[in-house]
Amino acid sequence: MRILVTGATGTLGSALLPALVKAGHQVRALSRAKRESRGNVEWVWGDLISDAGIADAVRGVDAVAHLATSGRKGRGAVDVPGTRMLIAAAREAQVPHLLFTSVVGTGSAATAYLRYKREAESLVAGSGLGWTVLRATPFHEWLDRRLGELASLPALPVDRSVPWQPVHTGEVAARAAELLSGGPAGAVEFGGPQVLGTDELVSTWLRARNLRRPRLPVRFPGRRYAVQRAGQFLTDALPKGRITWHDYLFPPPPALSDDFASEHTASPTSPANQPEQDPDLHVYGGDEGYERPTRS
Ligand SMILES: NC(=O)c1ccc[n+]([C@@H]2O[C@H](COP(=O)([O-])OP(=O)(O)OC[C@H]3O[C@@H](n4cnc5c(N)ncnc54)[C@H](OP(=O)(O)O)[C@@H]3O)[C@@H](O)[C@H]2O)c1
Repeated sequence: MRILVTGATGTLGSALLPALVKAGHQVRALSRAKRESRGNVEWVWGDLISDAGIADAVRGVDAVAHLATSGRKGRGAVDVPGTRMLIAAAREAQVPHLLFTSVVGTGSAATAYLRYKREAESLVAGSGLGWTVLRATPFHEWLDRRLGELASLPALPVDRSVPWQPVHTGEVAARAAELLSGGPAGAVEFGGPQVLGTDELVSTWLRARNLRRPRLPVRFPGRRYAVQRAGQFLTDALPKGRITWHDYLFPPPPALSDDFASEHTASPTSPANQPEQDPDLHVYGGDEGYERPTRS
């Protein structure tokens, strides 16, 4: 299949392109930046606010994966008017399937972003095209970035009553690729493997980033957190992701092939096994008599 991906340069888009290529599809990737096409990925220029390039981008494709978003601060410009323009172009080009990515919890309409996403979902469902709305829980990368921003504070505010279900972007991409191959599926949810309290989420992150911050117990005010506290941003839908927050933060070392191991294992005569003969290595004594060769 030939598939147009909007938002192809984003967090999810960057994971979806290789997943689609791996599944044997031809990918047309949309961006507002000009990029060089390579292999099975053809880059096209287009803007979902001005509508420039969109009619050409949808021409001749079997499906559109619409991931582009103007984000939480973008006042829904890409999510609502942009989706409306994309639908008009896709109808004109008679595209059989439009997959739109959204967020678990749009039904709550608890924030402006969720309301924009819900409105866009309705446009997609009423488009007359074959459609899929894939609602995902927060991506690991997004939470990682949010916590990175909060870490500039002297203490991290932690509301223990707020649950999270983070999901790995690669697994959302794999689910999207599967849905694109399978054809229109209606509304589908996809969440991470575990529900974590904010305390566990934050303490695992602090350990992984090697940071120490006092945690300030708080109760976040407002409707957004009341809705989240009530579990409306969680999903029981199956299948769900398998990669946990802990796995994402502490990825296992890559498995070595036998060839790699034999090439990289130091021989008995190599300096790595005889630190006292290597002028680049110094041996420092540890508190408990532990000695470790360390490069200066
Ligand atoms: N982040 C999360 O935790 C999360 C969770 C659940 C669902 N989702 C959904 O997953 C989808 C992808 O999210 P993401 O986090 O991967 O997004 P992202 O990293 O913020 O990327 C946004 C993308 O939108 C494109 N874009 C922005 N304005 C545009 C415009 N005017 N015209 C065309 N393209 C435009 C950007 O492309 P260029 O800059 O190259 O033009 C970029 O590739 C969204 O629908 C989002 O709602 C996200």
